[in-house]
Amino acid sequence: MAATTDEELVALAVEASKNAVAHHSNFHVGAALETADGTVYTGCNVESDSFGLTICAERVALTKALSEGEREFSRIAVFGEQLGGAGRFGGNSGGLGPCGACRQLLWEHCGDVKVIGATAEGGVGKVWRLAQLLPDAFDSR
Ligand code: THU
Repeated sequence: MAATTDEELVALAVEASKNAVAHHSNFHVGAALETADGTVYTGCNVESDSFGLTICAERVALTKALSEGEREFSRIAVFGEQLGGAGRFGGNSGGLGPCGACRQLLWEHCGDVKVIGATAEGGVGKVWRLAQLLPDAFDSR
């Protein structure tokens, strides 16, 4: 899987969100993480009846990539869609950012990557560097 533009990376995140296991929140999230050589690993959120065990889409994409031996990354796109009625998580201010836990893990394993927060319609919403989303980060470097 590969993407050229930010729009294409978002489209892969939208596609991945269709596999979301989101029976509790109905918030279907997809992430598309691109390596330095252009390979894209996607992930969706996987929810658990024991709520705290739920895994975010970004961490699924990250662990897929790491487990395949990838260590250098360039971009990640994140998309979320609130299905099933009134939106609890739909208001993402025009661009969905990763949660705090995912910011930490992405920082540790991907460094200062470009983060593309998709709109609820599947377009490019907000674009950041990860250092902007996690200033003065804790790490072992
Ligand atoms: N979620 C993600 O997959 N990524 C985020 O960055 C935010 C939250 C998921 C977790 C849970 O399944 C649902 O969205 C609602 O929190």
